[in-house]
Amino acid sequence: MPELREKYLALDAAIQRHKGEPGALMPVLQEAQNIFGYVPQEVQQRIADGLGVTLAEVYGVATFYAQFSLEPKGQYVIGVCLGTACYVKGSQKVLDKLSEELRIPVGKTTPDGVFTLNATRCLGACGLAPVMMVNDEVYGRLTPDEVPGILSKYR
Ligand code: FES
Repeated sequence: MPELREKYLALDAAIQRHKGEPGALMPVLQEAQNIFGYVPQEVQQRIADGLGVTLAEVYGVATFYAQFSLEPKGQYVIGVCLGTACYVKGSQKVLDKLSEELRIPVGKTTPDGVFTLNATRCLGACGLAPVMMVNDEVYGRLTPDEVPGILSKYR
């Protein structure tokens, strides 16, 4: 797959650019995330070999920071706010309904690769609680009953 080869070449270039710098792992992981869209184990291994660190170190950093994803993300990433304002207004019920409708637990992607379901911290739109985002689109004052209708817009 030539496209994949190019991605690995871009990754190797990023490794070479940062190799030897203190804290090189963070910028290389960031570039890997941008290049591949996520950081699968083969990529973690390539980074470990390239930077001369252990796979455990790469894995540790990749799992610690929420900005890195170890699995491919869906076409639509849903984030339901579980911040205090949203939580008290029932966002957990909205999240549960999404999980039921999509038949996936929080943090997972549907097998067809269309939706990823996440819980998030405060999205800064507490006045609209409970809030969720689908990619860049914001939905506020949600009830669980609205979930199927919203999902059907993306299906
Ligand atoms: S708590 Fe949900 S947007 Fe602030």
